[in-house]
Amino acid sequence: MVDAPVLIAGGAGFIGSNLVDSLLAKGYAVRILDDLSTGKRSNLALDNPKVELIEGNVADAALVKRAMAGCSAVVHLAAVASVQASVDDPVSTHQSNFVGTLNVCEAMREAGVKRVVFASSAAVYGNNGEGESIVEDTPKAPLTPYASDKLASEYYLDFYRREHGLEPVVFRFFNVYGPRQDPSSPYSGVISIFSERAEKGLPITIFGDGLQTRDFIYVGDLVRILIQAVEAPQAEEGAINVGLNQATSLKQMLDALGEVVGELPAITYGPARAGDIRHSRADNSRLLQRFTLGETTPMNVGLARLLGR
Ligand code: NAD
Ligand code: UD1
Repeated sequence: MVDAPVLIAGGAGFIGSNLVDSLLAKGYAVRILDDLSTGKRSNLALDNPKVELIEGNVADAALVKRAMAGCSAVVHLAAVASVQASVDDPVSTHQSNFVGTLNVCEAMREAGVKRVVFASSAAVYGNNGEGESIVEDTPKAPLTPYASDKLASEYYLDFYRREHGLEPVVFRFFNVYGPRQDPSSPYSGVISIFSERAEKGLPITIFGDGLQTRDFIYVGDLVRILIQAVEAPQAEEGAINVGLNQATSLKQMLDALGEVVGELPAITYGPARAGDIRHSRADNSRLLQRFTLGETTPMNVGLARLLGR
């Protein structure tokens, strides 16, 4: 296997650390650039000589250049993943979520690194395409600084592709869940919150009627795609949705969770979140044309793994 490390920006986080484990299992060396704002050292096997952690901020251009030197490819996951945090503090999240991407592009250009896999989001569609499977050329309607930074990052990656020969693979993730997703904030992913509360027997609050749907993908299924993108012989123009094209309502997800934990705690209902998207589901035809999704993890199995059962 290649000795030059793959740089994983945001590699100490939920998706990043699951990716790191799979890359190591395939024999890769990894260099992680992470400010540990939500990521954790404990997510990483730091005693493995093939793992290097550089603690720092992607908004620091000089540091990103140092981290890039000698790498074979980049997976850029570093971002403030909470949409609400970007609404509360657009200036500081812009540093991570946009300036960080620009720094990655510049550092790649300087170091001659070509391949970058980027984590964009279904949030770029806003409410467009709601109720149907969303195709990639659906008009974009970013409603938050988070979505605007992701979309701007996509455009900049495309600029560096055209002008400087970068080979970006841009994925728009839908709702990812699985082990190591941090449940500690009220704005954490819904499955991480509900699973933790179900396990502790604490009441669960559904915002709205619970009939809103999401296209949930288990992190292990996503990681298989990310690795193929690192290894793909050529990059593709345009972004690619990553989801299963399956709509699961919160109530259906809770039924599956109930099967795993035995008995669910009390469920209460609160007002729907302002600006919440009602239905979000990926048309994943492009993904299936270009990558092998393979057998995907049913929700009850994914939830059982998340809860270590
Ligand atoms: P996460 O918070 O667990 O991971 C993000 C990682 O980036 C963390 O380790 C954090 O410490 C690090 N980070 C944040 N700001 C940084 C900065 N300025 N410099 C260096 N490191 C920084 O979240 P996640 O769910 O693993 O998300 C990974 C990526 O996927 C993010 O870009 C997120 O926007 C995107 N995404 C996630 C989902 C989802 O459902 N989880 C959906 C769409 C897109
Ligand atoms: C999620 C991601 C976002 C990504 C988007 C792409 C997280 C934290 N957010 O946003 O980064 O860009 O998918 O599709 O991973 N809910 C409750 N009770 C709770 C918490 C949430 O009912 O305690 C509801 C919400 O109101 C919403 C649904 O669950 O209707 C999903 O919420 P959430 O997990 O925060 O995800 P998204 O907003 O879809």
